Amino acid sequence: MSRQTKKSKDQQLWWQKGIVYEVYIRSFQDSNGDGIGDLRGVINRLDYLQALGVNIIWVTPFYKSPMLDFGYDISDFKSVDPMFGTMSDFDELLEETHKRGMKLVLDQVPNHTSDQHEWFQESRSSKDNPKRDWFCWEDAGENGTPPNNWMAMFGGSAWEWDEKTKQYYYHAFLKEQPDLNWRNPEVHQAVLKEMQFWLDKGVDGFRVDVMWHLIKDEYLRDNPENADYKPEQPTYNQLLPVYSTDQPEVHDIVALMRDMLDKYEERVLIGEIYLPIHQLVNYYGDDNEGAHLPFNFMLLTMPWDPKKIATSIDEYEGALPNNSWPNWVIGNHDQSRMATKVGEAQARVAAMLLLTLRGTPTLYYGDEIGMQDVSIPKDEVQDPQGLHMPDKDLSRDPYRTPMQWDESEHAGFTSGMPWLRMAENARQHNVKAQEEDENSLLSLYKKLIRLRQQEQALHAGRYRPVYSDKQLLSYIRETDEQRYLVVLNLSDKPCSFSKENFSFSGEIKLATTPGRAGTTVRNSIEVKKDEGLVIKLEA
Ligand code: NOJ
Repeated sequence: MSRQTKKSKDQQLWWQKGIVYEVYIRSFQDSNGDGIGDLRGVINRLDYLQALGVNIIWVTPFYKSPMLDFGYDISDFKSVDPMFGTMSDFDELLEETHKRGMKLVLDQVPNHTSDQHEWFQESRSSKDNPKRDWFCWEDAGENGTPPNNWMAMFGGSAWEWDEKTKQYYYHAFLKEQPDLNWRNPEVHQAVLKEMQFWLDKGVDGFRVDVMWHLIKDEYLRDNPENADYKPEQPTYNQLLPVYSTDQPEVHDIVALMRDMLDKYEERVLIGEIYLPIHQLVNYYGDDNEGAHLPFNFMLLTMPWDPKKIATSIDEYEGALPNNSWPNWVIGNHDQSRMATKVGEAQARVAAMLLLTLRGTPTLYYGDEIGMQDVSIPKDEVQDPQGLHMPDKDLSRDPYRTPMQWDESEHAGFTSGMPWLRMAENARQHNVKAQEEDENSLLSLYKKLIRLRQQEQALHAGRYRPVYSDKQLLSYIRETDEQRYLVVLNLSDKPCSFSKENFSFSGEIKLATTPGRAGTTVRNSIEVKKDEGLVIKLEA
């Protein structure tokens, strides 16, 4: 029997009905004036998150770290970095989250550690250290060259020479982030134990970092060249990473993690995976014994084109294994912000799309107020991806700027100096201003979230495409009892919506444009520019 049929069809699990909100801790709320967000800051903003209606809080890494990759270089996974607070702050965050009926999901980084982690320190100490094989060590090729042509995501070769022990080690990211060797069962045990530590505390699950990177080709074959490489892309893209990522054995590792989670009641396993749809869906596992939610980044990576989006939704729906549950992501700390990509007016349509699609939605802090990428002068760049490839404009700092809360100095983020420059208009464009405006993006998000949670067709119903062209994207969400029609104009020109052999009548329940809700519509609709409509159809 498939694992997710344990519950009846309409009785959704919390991670199916819920809405994920990514808190990039460093930039969310500072509580001690050092200019860097912290755990207590998150605690102080839980009421805000509850009022917004999101109910699964994913917090980015807060573990001890040299912070070369802002916490994704962990030196002790069972600790809290003093920059972010203490273990008792963490315990309080968990308790306060649960008190509000919300869930807490932690970031887990099993692909690599910091080079300061004691495992790596031991591993690099000598060739016969018991932990030598916990990392990916290889002899040099002929003439001392690296073992193969694999490249690091942050630029350059993925192999670093260790003069002391005369071997190379592999790092998919910075040289200070050595990759663990997941072909070694001792590594499985060690990492699973660390995950257990947090599960025993009561966390509700994990977002697993770079899940598709975990296992590399056994024979270390060279990656082939990418004929479509463009110079503005990261150097990593010069090759197709067919041997260094997404290896068949990775699914056994994911299943191991899932097995461990299943020993606890209703925990969630989310995977960060950037792959085409047909490879992505393999991460659910053959019989749903893999990740519950392999992150679907389609909305982030594809053009804002209704026909292309409609096709991708169908491809995804069609590829999903039986009994698996979809998900959609609108923003994260590695990608340009949606409001920058599509503009202010379309950010409202994007919110409507995210919150009416079938599957768990994920939003990124600040998306709900339409935060934009902030241009960071070259001499202020902090992100390693930007620093290591300075000629390519790849820094992720612009989408990690501090949350804009109110009109006070530094927009209420900190009483000190923010670690990263904030948006110039932060004192005007913020949560407080939008809370006071019933037509703001924040108010729209709240209404969309409330409607989605209330209406079964929207949180649990089937998806059925209706019509798409170069302006419009439309679909139905339905259960046996309820039908909703969603009509989205992804362009800045008005258009009309009607379809041969499709007659309908209903009431507009929510619109991105003020004054439209409550109107009844029948068989055709004049859709304004940049307008999205959620229509409850008559039975
Ligand atoms: C994915 C994370 O989202 C990103 O921020 C980080 O740099 C890499 N993994 C390396 O851990």
